[in-house]
Amino acid sequence: AENVGIVALDVYFPRRYVDQAELEQHDGVSAGKYTIGLGQSKMAFCDDREDISSVCMTAVQGFMEKYAVSYADIGRLEVGTETVIDKSKSTKSVLMKLFEESGNFNVEGIDTTNACYGGTSALFNACQWVGSPAWDGRLALVVAADIAVYARGPARPSGGMGAVCILVGPDAPLALEFPLRGTFMEHIYDFYKPDMASEFPTVDGPLSVTSYVRAVDHSYAAYLDRLEKVAGVENPSLSDLDYLVFHSPYTKQVVKGFARMAYNDFTRNPDAPVFGDVQQFRDMSREESYGNKVLEKAFITLTKAAFAAKTAPSLLAARNIGNMYTASVFFGLASLLAEVPHAQLDGKRIALFSYGSGCAASTYSFRVRGDTSKIAAALDLAARLDNRIKVSPADFENVMLLREKTHNAQEYEPTGSTAELLPGTFYLQKVDSMWRRAYGRI
Ligand code: ACO
Repeated sequence: AENVGIVALDVYFPRRYVDQAELEQHDGVSAGKYTIGLGQSKMAFCDDREDISSVCMTAVQGFMEKYAVSYADIGRLEVGTETVIDKSKSTKSVLMKLFEESGNFNVEGIDTTNACYGGTSALFNACQWVGSPAWDGRLALVVAADIAVYARGPARPSGGMGAVCILVGPDAPLALEFPLRGTFMEHIYDFYKPDMASEFPTVDGPLSVTSYVRAVDHSYAAYLDRLEKVAGVENPSLSDLDYLVFHSPYTKQVVKGFARMAYNDFTRNPDAPVFGDVQQFRDMSREESYGNKVLEKAFITLTKAAFAAKTAPSLLAARNIGNMYTASVFFGLASLLAEVPHAQLDGKRIALFSYGSGCAASTYSFRVRGDTSKIAAALDLAARLDNRIKVSPADFENVMLLREKTHNAQEYEPTGSTAELLPGTFYLQKVDSMWRRAYGRI
């Protein structure tokens, strides 16, 4: 198969959101802490009517209908998620319900979990399947979805929720540049979910931020090495990447990630003319550079224009929905495709930086070689983001309490209203005495 990659893509996010400026007031923190400090405008959330299975069903069924793809044409389905409601039964197996009518049960692939990275691993698996001797000529679907919720406290405003469904196949408009890939993985306790009874993660916020930056360093360096060795690019740098999409826990972290890549360019080639204003950091060790606010600020200033051109358009969804864990980086890609016209994207390289705590990270890239305007039209992203319902912070907190109380419940009927769900949304009807879940669709 040639030019394997992303053929089509669509997203799902819930209709309800809380406004971050209102949340600042409600939480009694200084004005600007969430909106400027984290760079977030709105945060999407759901009540007990939606769980990870319903969210994935909504995304997949919506995608299949929108793009008129037949379930019989899918030979592989991969799910990346860290929203786990069962320690054994996969979300993929629940999604097989949607295949029943087509009679197609011959579908490879299963769930992949490691914090926000599972979707990336799922996408690699799907692309590699199409590019391998095991491929049977059918298409692959990748679903990345999460309900990101935090306990009350500083991490709560960095929640969110969303799902992305990606069709993978040959002759794709976004072709994966297979050999151009750099990965970094290590053992670290920055964000993890050891408490099986709780939906909330255990978080060391400051450590997770440093870990993200370290992962940028290592995976970006490994990517540039490949660019040099495989593609023969001399002195590879940010200028070889036309667009960059980052995992966004909140958009401020993306600004820092981009600046950090420029710092890495500087350490590789400090005499390059663009680095005239940052020569004072020449002798600083890498260890010292972590958490150094003066250095961070200098590189953010230096990269302002490049960031605006290469990355800012990818933040539309992240700023208005929040973190979506595994789906986050793909909402970034969706935002870029929705915001930048095809004529501008044509022939360009789009790099992605995916980070999952714990940690697993990759920098990799796609080449735009086909029409993206159909995807942009199907996404209709800005209009969909504008057509939502704002909920007060007090009501948002009540919903969070409801989810907390009913998490893992048995013999349970959700009490959340279905009136505000978007048409086509799957919702939880009931959990029986054996924790079997039943769903309906609006
Ligand atoms: N106006 C403008 N900026 C403000 C204001 C204000 N009124 N108040 C604070 N800020 C700034 C701070 O200066 C700081 O900026 P900086 O990052 O440039 O230093 C920023 O807002 C954050 O404020 P802090 O007090 O440093 O941090 P806080 O206690 O709010 O916690 C954190 C932030 C750690 C990110 C928290 O939200 C968290 O733990 N989130 C979950 C973990 C996470 O998302 N990690 C990222 C990668 S891992 C992942 O994706 C899950």
